[in-house]
Amino acid sequence: MYQPDRYSVEGANRFIAEKAPSVNAVMKPGFHLTAPTGWINDPNGFCYFQGKYHMFCQYNPYHSRWDTMHWGHWTSTDLIRWTWEGVALAPDQPYDCMGCFSGTAAVVGDTLHLLYTCVHPDTDGVVIQEQAIATSQDGIYFVKSPLNPVLRKNDLPPDGERRDFRDPRVYPDQGGWRLLLANKNERCGRQLLYESSDLIHWTYRGVFLQELSEMPECPDFFHLDGKDVLVTCLMNQPREGYRFQNGHHDVAYVTGRTEGVSFVQESLDSVDLGQDFYAPQTVLAPDGRRIMVGWMMMWGEATPPLYLDHGWQGAYTFPREISLQDGKLCQRPVREIQGLYGRQLCLERADVKGCLQLEGVSGQHYHLRLTVGDLYEPFSIHLKEDGAEYVELRYDPQTGLLSMDRSRMGHPVYAQPGEEAHDVSYLQLVPGHSLALEILSDTCSLEVFAGHGMGAMTSLCFPKGTGTGISFHGKGELQHVSFALLETKGVIG
Ligand code: FRU
Repeated sequence: MYQPDRYSVEGANRFIAEKAPSVNAVMKPGFHLTAPTGWINDPNGFCYFQGKYHMFCQYNPYHSRWDTMHWGHWTSTDLIRWTWEGVALAPDQPYDCMGCFSGTAAVVGDTLHLLYTCVHPDTDGVVIQEQAIATSQDGIYFVKSPLNPVLRKNDLPPDGERRDFRDPRVYPDQGGWRLLLANKNERCGRQLLYESSDLIHWTYRGVFLQELSEMPECPDFFHLDGKDVLVTCLMNQPREGYRFQNGHHDVAYVTGRTEGVSFVQESLDSVDLGQDFYAPQTVLAPDGRRIMVGWMMMWGEATPPLYLDHGWQGAYTFPREISLQDGKLCQRPVREIQGLYGRQLCLERADVKGCLQLEGVSGQHYHLRLTVGDLYEPFSIHLKEDGAEYVELRYDPQTGLLSMDRSRMGHPVYAQPGEEAHDVSYLQLVPGHSLALEILSDTCSLEVFAGHGMGAMTSLCFPKGTGTGISFHGKGELQHVSFALLETKGVIG
């Protein structure tokens, strides 16, 4: 496997240009972000700068597994069509020689700042995490600060673990800046709060929120519909019913309010209960909407593009508009999705007794909305169906439990040795005789929004067959069916 002697932005971009044409794209998503070559994990630095959305990624261009992290970069004017801008940060300094880990962006006038975790060996050889900053005037070429690392192990409180001190989330606050950092001590995980007036000199203010699993990675923090919301990824959080069902890694949102330097928590819940959703970041769109994008994969998985040697692994969710309704997170695909609509079909009503397929309702890339009403017994929808292969979406109106089962897919997603990867995900909804669903299907993924966006499940699923069939099973009535095929040619540059 190719590995350069020295990492650099130019070297990485040269490698990508040479290698990209030989990447096997058959399983690549049509309208979800993936890199031209290699591996991506967390979305980073999601921001709006000089008239464009910028999305960066945790990136290993050289192979389709996690390794020494770079930052890759796309831009978009509409959240649906993305242009690959190349590598923004490479681990080319002594202080980030073991990786440029996750972080966020701050826009100050004509300058874009990226704050990221720089990983390197400490003087005693222990690999530690500190924080660095890079800036750009054109949003493409970034220069790292000579003052890096700008937040060091000495900025930790005395009980802070220097090996787990990462993922800076910067946000404006009262004319200055606040920064949350994931950290842990011997007892628990927590978010630490820092303040600065210039993004370079930081002062530790205290523990913002603690008792957050073993280690709460990738904080995001924003104000939404009257509350402060902290989104963070909980490691080894004990499962509670159907909450936090993903084993080692679950994404939670905490609602509450900021009081001085701490966060007063009101509620804690899962963001997306599918198998493949992690490390989301949000941006405030110019029109005031809060938009969220997550990594559409999970630690510990081996997906078909990896084990079939296709030269890529990892994708991002489609951008979602988020809001709080009665204190609960509501998620929907951004309305810009309509810009991808091709052939459309609407149907007011259809009875299901046994098995039903609808003329014209099939495809690989689509946006399907419908309500299933008149439900008194379990009802199933088969998605990505081709013969015996399908993903089963099943709802039990008595219990309110919605499940998504990908175990019949021809190309399984395997668990890495010693890890967990589930084929069935569960979402607890309020029991009732009707179910509103919104489904986004791409080549190798399904994003399901249930109950008008009050629940979400995202999972990768790799069909061997056509993956195009949709059928309805049980007894009920389909209402307000709206189906649109998506035009995906060239939308991901
Ligand atoms: C989360 C994470 C981050 C870290 C990054 C490294 O998925 O572990 O905490 O910064 O991935 O790639």
